[in-house]
Amino acid sequence: MPMSTRIDSAIHAALARTRTGGSAPAKLSDALPYACTPGGARIRPTILVSVALACGDETPAITDAAAAALELMHCASLVHDDLPCFDDADTRRGKPSVHRAYSEPLAVLTGDALIILAFETLALSAASHPARAAALVALLARQSGMPHGICAGQGWESETHIDLSAYHRSKTGALFIAATQMGALSAGQDPEPWTELGARIGEAFQVADDLRDALSDETETGKPAGQDALHCRPNAVAELGVDGAVTRLKDILSGAIASIPSCPGEAALAQMMRMQAERLTPAFARTRARV
Ligand code: IPE
Ligand code: IPE
Ligand code: MG
Ligand code: MG
Repeated sequence: MPMSTRIDSAIHAALARTRTGGSAPAKLSDALPYACTPGGARIRPTILVSVALACGDETPAITDAAAAALELMHCASLVHDDLPCFDDADTRRGKPSVHRAYSEPLAVLTGDALIILAFETLALSAASHPARAAALVALLARQSGMPHGICAGQGWESETHIDLSAYHRSKTGALFIAATQMGALSAGQDPEPWTELGARIGEAFQVADDLRDALSDETETGKPAGQDALHCRPNAVAELGVDGAVTRLKDILSGAIASIPSCPGEAALAQMMRMQAERLTPAFARTRARV
């Protein structure tokens, strides 16, 4: 089964649980799959499953649950991020954002319900390996909440003085660290040696996103462009210029590939990383820098 099908099946299986067992509010029921399907690049679960496979993937049911939980958490963070009280974004993945399609109260509830579904998905996977499932719950919580997870990242935007590296590490890096760590943990490996790889991918991803925000338009990205400048948000293009940001992206990506811990599937994982690097580098930047 292709990896993308495996990941989508796991996400659909989790979402299906929100639609069974009697009557539920119809609009909220519809908003949950609206927020998650069709997905975006699914880059976080792709990294998670790739790391698990590189480490042997001996409990695939746990890997599937981890991949679904991570992507559900990511989708929830986007629903909340688009709300008027955050970025006030009208579009996401080429369609109206959840609050534009369903209303603000339903967007708040959609984000909440997806976060809860993420943890429920991990909890239910305890049937196949209780210790691994419990460790995955703790890991996802750590990279999503306070003091260093997504909540912290979004919280930095309400401070007068932003610690730029803490902001990016929490807002974007945290779920990439979750991806590599949860992949290793799903396969029964110590997650710690995988932290650096996740952090480096997250850093590269943030620079690529800043370049896209500054230089692409909504037809390419499916979400509003120019948001960093509009909200006066610190970003790599403002800090380094376009060429400086492209060079930085290239440097971080080669460092990321070099930091893959030794494991049985190391070569295949490095190959997957090169493909992801190619995907996340904006088209115009590929002509300026070989990744
Ligand atoms: C967007 O993430 C949010 C950031 C952290 C910059 P993605 O670009 O991975 O979004 P999708 O899931 O592919 O739409
Ligand atoms: C979103 O960051 C990150 C989280 C939801 C945690 P941004 O606001 O920079 O990303 P986009 O541009 O809306 O995808
Ligand atoms: Mg934001
Ligand atoms: Mg945003």
